Amino acid sequence: MVKLTYSEKFKPNKNAVFLFSNSGELSNFLLSAEEIAYVEKKLKEDEKFILINRLSHHIFLQQIEDFESKPEGLKREKYRAVGAKISHTLTAHHYEEIWIGNHPSNLAASLYISEGVVLASYQFNKYKSDKKNNALKSILVQTEKTKKNEIEALQIQLEEVIRARNWVNEPVSHLDAIVFAKQIQSAAKDAGVSCEVLNKKQIESLKMGGLLAVNKGSKTPPTFTILEYKPAKAKNKKPLVLVGKGVVYDTGGLSLKPTAGMDTMKCDMAGAAAVAAGIFAIAKSKLPLHVVALIPATDNRPGEIAYTPGDVIHMFDGQTVEVLNTDAEGRMILADALSYAKKYEPEIVLDFATLTGAAAAAIGAYGIVCMGTASEESKTALKNAGELVHERLVEFPFWDDYSTLIKSDIADMKNIGGPVAGAITAGKFLEKFIDYPWMHFDIAGPAFISAAETYKTKGGTGVGVRLILEYAKQLCSK
Ligand code: BES
Ligand code: ZN
Ligand code: ZN
Repeated sequence: MVKLTYSEKFKPNKNAVFLFSNSGELSNFLLSAEEIAYVEKKLKEDEKFILINRLSHHIFLQQIEDFESKPEGLKREKYRAVGAKISHTLTAHHYEEIWIGNHPSNLAASLYISEGVVLASYQFNKYKSDKKNNALKSILVQTEKTKKNEIEALQIQLEEVIRARNWVNEPVSHLDAIVFAKQIQSAAKDAGVSCEVLNKKQIESLKMGGLLAVNKGSKTPPTFTILEYKPAKAKNKKPLVLVGKGVVYDTGGLSLKPTAGMDTMKCDMAGAAAVAAGIFAIAKSKLPLHVVALIPATDNRPGEIAYTPGDVIHMFDGQTVEVLNTDAEGRMILADALSYAKKYEPEIVLDFATLTGAAAAAIGAYGIVCMGTASEESKTALKNAGELVHERLVEFPFWDDYSTLIKSDIADMKNIGGPVAGAITAGKFLEKFIDYPWMHFDIAGPAFISAAETYKTKGGTGVGVRLILEYAKQLCSK
């Protein structure tokens, strides 16, 4: 992991990023007369991002005039994208260190650029024999002195986003439900979060029928992981509860998925990765907030006694579900976790899940589909947090009419709706298991991407971690 440290002054003749509004400021950066002339020429050609290659190092110049007029969320995203561009040059030249300056009109700009550099520099190459690792080790960040602690906060955030990406990118043979739970447990220890992993026996005695049904086709037992962070000075009396879908691999089960695209289904625990990394980020940042995270985990396979279309399942809370498609397994395991969450009398529950292809089809990877029963105040806070970290929320309608689509003739509900509104009927299914303010985040679109996009690398994106942390920060500053 790249180390971020505070550094007020740039080192001459080393990699550096300078932000400026107008060419008058160029004289502050120890550029030669020829370099200044070059930059001015580029500016006339309407280039705003200018690279000076000095052979032993690069100078990166970014004109920020049209950034600063943007709303805060877009402005930050522009700086992250600058960071991603810089990262490509750093990687190509095997640079180990870079200094990133801020600008009087935005003293935090260097933080967002650093964020972009680190996230764009991420590699998942542990299975390559010829590793070609990134050389980048250190970023020196210029910030206002009062913002020094924000560098540390950013470091924590980035570590946790990377943890989530690593988990999502890990194939199932290296990360089954048991291994996943063990890794969560060991990371929890480091983060000062308490962790209890329920094994199959315990899950059976709790009668978590949804999780057990999905697990029936698997040789690996399920796990149910409970994480809790309860600082002495918590601001909230009732906890914030996070729930994450931990399907470590989704073959579809007997309702088998086609081969094309099935490879990406190692990402089906991205919700679990986001909530685990999210609570670790909150704890490591020492936010005064009582938080619980619940992670039901299993793979979904068409094994010998796999659950079947036509089956009826008794869920943890006693309700019954007619299974009409074993590929709608996420809601089965989440339902049990959501019912389990009632015992905490939560202030609010947020669930994260790669739940439906319908959500991905509706808005692509550009945002997160959400819906739920939380107060308008909570929804607004979540949406604001989403804008700031550019994990933008799109709230779907959640009218009662959609519940009729999951009515079953023989059980309390069925596990699929009809051909329309698939993301919403999945949400309506989950709603049957809650009795508290709740928001559901369907991250099927943004969790795993097929091509890099600025600072998001191909594969797992770690979506959700930054949203959870930002929302938690806002709850604390209320
Ligand atoms: N894990 C999938 C959803 C998914 C799709 C995640 C694409 C990431 C990318 C989920 O378990 C699933 O298979 N959902 C079905 C539900 C259907 C059978 C009602 C779907 O969306 O097709
Ligand atoms: Zn599925
Ligand atoms: Zn799934």
